[in-house]
Amino acid sequence: MGCTVIAGGFWGDEGKGKIVSYLALQDRVDVCVRTGSVNAAHTVLFKGRTFKLHMVPAAFVYERCRLLIGAGANIDVAQLQSELSETGVRNRLGVDRHASIIELRHSSQDKSNDHLKKLGTTGRGVGPAIEERVRRSAKLAKDLPELKPFLADTVDEVNAAIDDKKNVILEGTQGLMLSLYHGSYPFVTSRDTSASAICSEAGVGPSRVDSVLLVLKAFITRVGAGELPDEISREEAIDRGWFETAAGTGRERRSAPFNFELARKVARINGATEIAVTKLDILYGECAHANDYAKLPSEGQDFISNIEKATGVPVTIIGTGPDAMDIIDRRSASVLT
Ligand code: IMP
Ligand code: MG
Repeated sequence: MGCTVIAGGFWGDEGKGKIVSYLALQDRVDVCVRTGSVNAAHTVLFKGRTFKLHMVPAAFVYERCRLLIGAGANIDVAQLQSELSETGVRNRLGVDRHASIIELRHSSQDKSNDHLKKLGTTGRGVGPAIEERVRRSAKLAKDLPELKPFLADTVDEVNAAIDDKKNVILEGTQGLMLSLYHGSYPFVTSRDTSASAICSEAGVGPSRVDSVLLVLKAFITRVGAGELPDEISREEAIDRGWFETAAGTGRERRSAPFNFELARKVARINGATEIAVTKLDILYGECAHANDYAKLPSEGQDFISNIEKATGVPVTIIGTGPDAMDIIDRRSASVLT
């Protein structure tokens, strides 16, 4: 796999955590760099346990993977400590000295601000913390004694791993439609969420990346306010089995059918070289837990091939259930169907 960027395509919650955890195990990923902040939650189901990770890279499931938090990331120290206890990966974690710090007061500012309330933010304080970083008055990881044991030159580590042809994942958070630049402004998050931005947060130049894996869910969901083309009602979503609640905040997610035009646009902006489609089992129940493409009903195969036609990008990975290993991996035969 070389160096792979994992980017979300829609409004987040595409299942990036699951895809990262699968790849970590399957490709024995050496280094995984998490970007973004505590507003994102990546769900990993592995060996019967469910983890909702806001800070620890989802690749933690592969026990030899070095776990890094990049320079562009924004750290909630209490959340990080609690996830470290839960996952038991303290000895594998490295935190960039330049990652910024999000504090309790940022969350209060987020929750009490009328404008931010209207946008329906997660209330975790990321917007106010990033404002401070842009004002150049934020605390950085190097300023906190609690983080001292973890401080590392993550940029050097990840680039050295790439020099050595190791397997590296740059783990993006959220999705392109929540990008501050390319998303549905002002109903977006406080950073760019594109593949390029993920590289930038990790300190990896664009020429050093081997693949950009765009994660798209088989239907679309979003939390918070803002546009959602072809949105269906809550009742309809329950009926179709699409109804979800947010991993991080527990809020109800709104939903809509897969949007091929949007997929084309986001594949382009991300420079996607591969696509992962998650939750195909929700659309086509017959394929639940399948690991073999031939097990997909023909409608399911048509759906995948329509995504490839719309985007011009091969769908190499298909999620067929919540477990890290509920995957159809077509990479060895990765040609457009
Ligand atoms: P903020 O990032 O908390 O400021 O929230 C801004 C918008 O992005 C809101 O609509 C949030 O619901 C959304 N958002 C932020 N992070 C995530 C995420 O990880 N998944 C889904 N939506 C998110
Ligand atoms: Mg999420």
